[in-house]
Amino acid sequence: MASEKFRDVEVLAPMVRGSTLPLRLECLRYGASLVWGEEIIDRKLIGALRVENSAFGCIDYVSPREKVSVFSTCAEETKKVIFQLGTASAHLAVEAAQLVCNDVSGIDVNMGCPKSFSVKGGMGAALLDKPEVVAEILTSLRRALPSEKSVTCKIRMLPSTEKTRDFMRVCEKSGAEAITVHMRLREERPAEPAHWDEMERLWDAVQVPVLANGDFFSRHQIDEFWKHCKEKGCRPSGVMIARGALWNPSIFSREPPAFDEMVRSYVRSAVATNSTYQNTKWVLSQMLAGGTGVTVPTSFNGINMKTFNRELSATKSMAHICTAFGEPFEPTYPNRAHTTVFYKDFPFPEE
Ligand code: FNR
Repeated sequence: MASEKFRDVEVLAPMVRGSTLPLRLECLRYGASLVWGEEIIDRKLIGALRVENSAFGCIDYVSPREKVSVFSTCAEETKKVIFQLGTASAHLAVEAAQLVCNDVSGIDVNMGCPKSFSVKGGMGAALLDKPEVVAEILTSLRRALPSEKSVTCKIRMLPSTEKTRDFMRVCEKSGAEAITVHMRLREERPAEPAHWDEMERLWDAVQVPVLANGDFFSRHQIDEFWKHCKEKGCRPSGVMIARGALWNPSIFSREPPAFDEMVRSYVRSAVATNSTYQNTKWVLSQMLAGGTGVTVPTSFNGINMKTFNRELSATKSMAHICTAFGEPFEPTYPNRAHTTVFYKDFPFPEE
């Protein structure tokens, strides 16, 4: 039963720009049970070409038009990675999911993104008002995908507990094998506190696993949440961590490395997976800025952090980034062109 893999778990949340391959691998190595990829819109994936990039041991889904990898993955994560779809259409969702499903462990549907580009297209949080569309999407995905591939969804709280519980039941009845609840309302911003106590009233709305998401920034906080649940007799099946893992992927570990080593390890993963320098730089800037629950050192590599951040923001290639961090790039990785270069002259079939 695909539901079992969602029991007693601590997982990486989907984050656009954040939950790309190197961060996912780092989180898995630090003990994450499963990792969600960043949301990818159905139409963006449909038409992509699956390329085995043997130089890096990665599988890239490449858009022939834009000549960039839309989604990259590798064998190390196949059994643990959940592909998150942005969709408002059952047939597009199925087409996209069928394309990628052999390289991932399951498909998740984003039903919580409140951003206008999502909602305007009927995707993300717009689906919270459309249970009939949700039912069609989930039922179609469940019917179309092999049974060992999970179908799940990530929602936000609706305006009342009863409405959220009803919506969760629609998801379960339509085939969702786990439901993540971001414990905020659609209009609430990330700086507003997540409503942990609402989980007490939601976790038993359905039989399938329910994952709690929102404001897990340290091991201590995760432990506090479980204590709170135990006291209240509430049993969600796991926690999903977004910003806490972006700032510190070793949040999953009970024996975390020093900050310095955590950051360097991410750089090495980004190089090894042929991550773009733009994405690597963005993730690093988030880690080095830190946030709640993370103590960022005042210097890095013997350089004052302010100066170091300035140097990082001026970098324009993976080689530059590696130099800034004192990590090897070339010649350790000869003939391994940067993704954007690699696919520039790739022999895509004629349309
Ligand atoms: C997100 N979030 C998000 N959610 C989702 O379902 N799909 C996505 O692609 C994204 N993208 C995204 C990008 C970034 C940079 C952030 C910070 C967040 C929301 C995220 O998964 C999570 O629900 C919230 O951030 C709340 O969890 P935390 O941050 O309090 O652990």
